[in-house]
Amino acid sequence: MSSSTVITNIATLVTNDPSLGDGSPLGLIQDAAVVIDGDRIAWTGESSKAPATDNRVDAGGRAVLPGFVDSHSHLVFAGDRTQEFNARMSGRSYTAGGIRTTVAATRAATDAELEANLTRYLAEALRQGTTTFETKSGYGLTVEDEARALRIAARHTDEVTYLGAHIVSPDYADDPAAYVALVTGEMLDACAPHARWVDVFCEKGAFDGDQARAILTAGKAKGLHPRVHANQLSYGPGVQLAVELDAASADHCTHLTDADVDALANGDTVATLLPGAEFSTRAEWPDARRLLDAGVTVALSTDCNPGSSFTSSVPFCIALAVRDMRMTPDEAVWSATAGGAAALRRTDIGRLGPGARADLTLLDAPSHVHLAYRPGVPLVSGVWRRGERLV
Ligand code: NIG
Ligand code: FE
Repeated sequence: MSSSTVITNIATLVTNDPSLGDGSPLGLIQDAAVVIDGDRIAWTGESSKAPATDNRVDAGGRAVLPGFVDSHSHLVFAGDRTQEFNARMSGRSYTAGGIRTTVAATRAATDAELEANLTRYLAEALRQGTTTFETKSGYGLTVEDEARALRIAARHTDEVTYLGAHIVSPDYADDPAAYVALVTGEMLDACAPHARWVDVFCEKGAFDGDQARAILTAGKAKGLHPRVHANQLSYGPGVQLAVELDAASADHCTHLTDADVDALANGDTVATLLPGAEFSTRAEWPDARRLLDAGVTVALSTDCNPGSSFTSSVPFCIALAVRDMRMTPDEAVWSATAGGAAALRRTDIGRLGPGARADLTLLDAPSHVHLAYRPGVPLVSGVWRRGERLV
């Protein structure tokens, strides 16, 4: 029989279940308690009404929220791109071309080196409150290197994405059509067993709308569900293609037309915003307000990768989203938890109601607002994943 634990004396509990709390999307409960039974939430409510349990943890008047759901990262890689970042901060602009540097380093790395890197970034993310993460291939670009990236990723998460279509492999620079044939053929066959999702970087310098459609459609036929790197560096077909193919998420969404926003508002595709990328590439911010005001579901994630966004910190992204993308603290926290779950089409995470997975973050602060109010401060002081305290 599994043992139960009550966390009591929670000043502010974010449940993301409006029916449990104050009726707001965050479903806030003041002076709250949560009961964990095994790997699940058994009960959520006011401290005074908490049922008896085997164990008791005193939250000391601090805030508890669902563990962050980082629905977009690129963590299977080797090397870094310090020089490129340095040059950018001296005025150079970001292009997809830098990906080739990481492809070369990743191909040269051993499996053990790639896994050690991944493990290190995951530990970083966990310390900052992330309990679920998605991660992608995309720095191998050969059949063997893409498949091994996914195999390594799948040892650490269920949310694995095949991104053979990150850029056209340098080996196929003269024949992009042949690379698309590889990505939709032999490479897909080798990768599909290890992945849940298929992704494509739909952008000038990467893949155009027709190529992206071919890649996503082929992935779907193999049982992978689409998600799209869309409209990051320029306007383009990515967002509308994502909605048309019922992608779980269109990611970046930095350059949007009214038709793109309408498509997102009328479809089931989440807009995942990645402010770490705009921060680290000195690009203009995505217009979060325009999306939220149109009724689009917005997720917030790190995009952690060595080129455009080398941060594993969801709290940092929340602070950017609030300060620079004009999201409210409530909206940003929702997007980094429930929004990330929606972008992964998951209902068992990103919320703290009965039956949800017991993934929780305890802050050394009385409310979730401090994540934006106290930027750069390591506020995460406890993390439970599947009911087990890890931090
Ligand atoms: O999401 N945009 C494409 N891929 C990554 C960047 C990858 C890189 O620069 O290494 C992104 O920003
Ligand atoms: Fe990305």
